[in-house]
Amino acid sequence: MKKRIFSGIQPSGSLHIGNYLGAIKNWVDLQDSFESIFCIVDLHAITVAQNPEELRKRTLEIAKIYIASGIDPKKSAMFVQSHVSEHSEMTWILNTLARMSDLFKMTQFKDKAQKEGQENSGVGLFDYPVLMAADILLYDTEVVPVGEDQVQHIELARTLARRFNKKFGQTFVVPEASVKKETMRIMGLDDPTKKMSKSASSEYSFIGLLDDVELIKKKIKKAVTGSGSEVKYSDDEPALKNLINIFSAFSGKSASEIVLEYKGKGYADFKEGLTKVVLDFIIPFQERFNNISDEQVLNILQNGAEKVRPLAEKKIEEVKERIGFVL
Ligand code: TYM
Repeated sequence: MKKRIFSGIQPSGSLHIGNYLGAIKNWVDLQDSFESIFCIVDLHAITVAQNPEELRKRTLEIAKIYIASGIDPKKSAMFVQSHVSEHSEMTWILNTLARMSDLFKMTQFKDKAQKEGQENSGVGLFDYPVLMAADILLYDTEVVPVGEDQVQHIELARTLARRFNKKFGQTFVVPEASVKKETMRIMGLDDPTKKMSKSASSEYSFIGLLDDVELIKKKIKKAVTGSGSEVKYSDDEPALKNLINIFSAFSGKSASEIVLEYKGKGYADFKEGLTKVVLDFIIPFQERFNNISDEQVLNILQNGAEKVRPLAEKKIEEVKERIGFVL
């Protein structure tokens, strides 16, 4: 029996190479050895204001990105979170176990709530990690492949699973996070102290998966490098280290191979090489993306929801039975 993985992405902005390298690329590598479920988490996206038309467009866009990246809908189930209503139902039940103190600890909430202030932030934004726990626990997920910023949320899913099991008897699998060290935190190209983010204030911070080729060249040219002229992989040179990690992930070469390759050469040569490996991925990726129609993707998402719904229904039944609901 294969172990099960579950992961998801919010349709809340343009996906960048951080999302690809930190999450999607690993899913593609794992989908043969795991029973895989990949979600587009629209319920999470609405925890901050969204334009309805834009949200609909982005939801399909993310499904196309999954497919163009190599997620095979024949092997993996791919679906939209709101198509399986058990996610919301499970969230409510888990809400009765989650404590305010669990959620106040969440660094992502602290960051996101800064904009409006905690008092004025939405309840949905506060409760966001419980919805994520519901996503994971509904499917008896064993492994959750994500970037580093999600690890704390998975910790909460583990806590809630254990708390429920202790109170009502063994019901949930306690999931584990899976991160890849070199790509779990891809940093901004303009500032290596901030992670690459969909909501960055400058577009020169990230490389969008759907960015125009000329723009990508420009972004790499403008990227911050090191303080000297030598290509080296060191914590003292975080911007360069980040670029080498990106180079390594796209090329399959190790950091030391890359350093050796650019020994005695300058940053300009290195950036030229980096541009090549990024575009060697991006160009055929975008071609595949553009060849997928909305109809195709809607069909795949519908099939995906049909595949996972019975699992979610079974789990919620079990949970309702445990907590004493009349069935
Ligand atoms: P989201 O949509 O913010 O990000 C999607 C995935 O991309 C990873 N990621 C990064 N990895 C490396 N470097 C970066 N700079 C970077 N930026 C983003 C994220 O870690 C994530 O894996 N709450 C989740 C979505 C979610 C989910 C789930 C994930 C909802 N339910 C259940 C796993 C399981 C989120 O907002 O990810």
